[in-house]
Amino acid sequence: MCLSALQTGPWGNPGVTGAKVNQLKIINVVGARPNFMKMAPIIAAMNCYPDEIEHLLVHTGQHYDEKMSKSFFDDLGMPKPDIDLGVGSGSHAEQTGQVMVKFEQVCLDEKPDLVIVVGDVNSTMACTITAKKLGIRVAHVEAGLRSGDMGMPEEINRLCTDVLCDYLFTTEASAGENLRAEGIADEKIIFVGNVMIDTLLQHREMAAKLSTAGDMGLKAGEYAVLTLHRPSNVDDKATLGGIFEALAEIARRLPVVFPIHPRTRKMMDSFGLTHYLQPGAGGKGIHVTEPLGYLQFLHLMMNARLVLTDSGGLQEETTVLGVPCITLRHNTERPITVEQGSNVVVGNDKSHILAAANDVLEGRMPQPRIPEKWDGKTADRIVEWLIKNRKKRSAPRGLLR
Ligand code: UD1
Repeated sequence: MCLSALQTGPWGNPGVTGAKVNQLKIINVVGARPNFMKMAPIIAAMNCYPDEIEHLLVHTGQHYDEKMSKSFFDDLGMPKPDIDLGVGSGSHAEQTGQVMVKFEQVCLDEKPDLVIVVGDVNSTMACTITAKKLGIRVAHVEAGLRSGDMGMPEEINRLCTDVLCDYLFTTEASAGENLRAEGIADEKIIFVGNVMIDTLLQHREMAAKLSTAGDMGLKAGEYAVLTLHRPSNVDDKATLGGIFEALAEIARRLPVVFPIHPRTRKMMDSFGLTHYLQPGAGGKGIHVTEPLGYLQFLHLMMNARLVLTDSGGLQEETTVLGVPCITLRHNTERPITVEQGSNVVVGNDKSHILAAANDVLEGRMPQPRIPEKWDGKTADRIVEWLIKNRKKRSAPRGLLR
């Protein structure tokens, strides 16, 4: 990373500089928690090229809690958003529609040459559709991942985003294969690696120095970390109850730390399942915390004996950290974490979860290998590519309104 990026903090932003000839004007979009750690290194890499790139950060406000949003800006040293759309919660249509209406005005005012979206959340798809209809180019970072499960809202977001985008930056070979199989032209697909791993490698030492685990009374290598928020796991009482029956058994063997997602907390309250969330004898049991900041959570994860999750990103982070990961889903859009990583995908059936946990606790887990280009330099590759292949906006139809 260049000196100018480091001078303003790990991922600082020297600010919007004012247009220069042939400078690319880029809007970077974030909306929900898993977007922040993906965008932070891209912003830092852009700061190395102030003559080539002017950039603005737009936060849609899909996630708005201190713990789901602001704490990540602080932990990652990210600049405050230049524009906050303040969209908040709602049904999928409400959230998507509100982002589109508000982001359209931003595009009309700012007239960017390019919009960059990351991941697969509602904000990603909403901003892609809006920008494309105004004739603005869009780049998708983490393109081409496919679970094949149309019951996942994120899968719909991925498909809609990728079919529209001009530049598709991919994290693993399977993503490029998926895109080609969908008829996407080869020249749009650029295999760059994983920006989330840039952030992890950049913050690993800082996280290691924290005392989060010790402060919770946990010993390194002797506890599990749990995250759970997918609608398919938490929105149905019988499914969620079954998962917690398995987790309660695991928690009799070692403490399970559970930073609870707001969606999951609401569902557990309404289903009357909160009795599972009790510390057990001898420090074991399920220990609930509020959602944690990036560094604290990284600290907990890197010192854990195992991670149980339905998140996408954790499958990748554990692969790099070498921590066994049990994924409580029926599929993964990140197959490299199973082929090369520390991940096993077990679904949400009690006996399968327990069998996988048993394997880990008895030392039967594959030794992960770091996937190709998950080397901390992905954001540099993206920004260098964008500069080399830069195209200025040529008075697109939509912007002339
Ligand atoms: C969203 C993303 C998902 C991502 C997850 C990470 C979509 C479709 N889903 O799911 O891909 O893995 O974020 O967290 O975009 N809530 C709060 N505070 C907040 C945000 C949400 O209390 O800051 C509550 C909302 O009121 C809502 C629930 O949490 O009831 C779910 O939020 P929502 O943004 O709809 O989806 P997530 O489940 O967080």
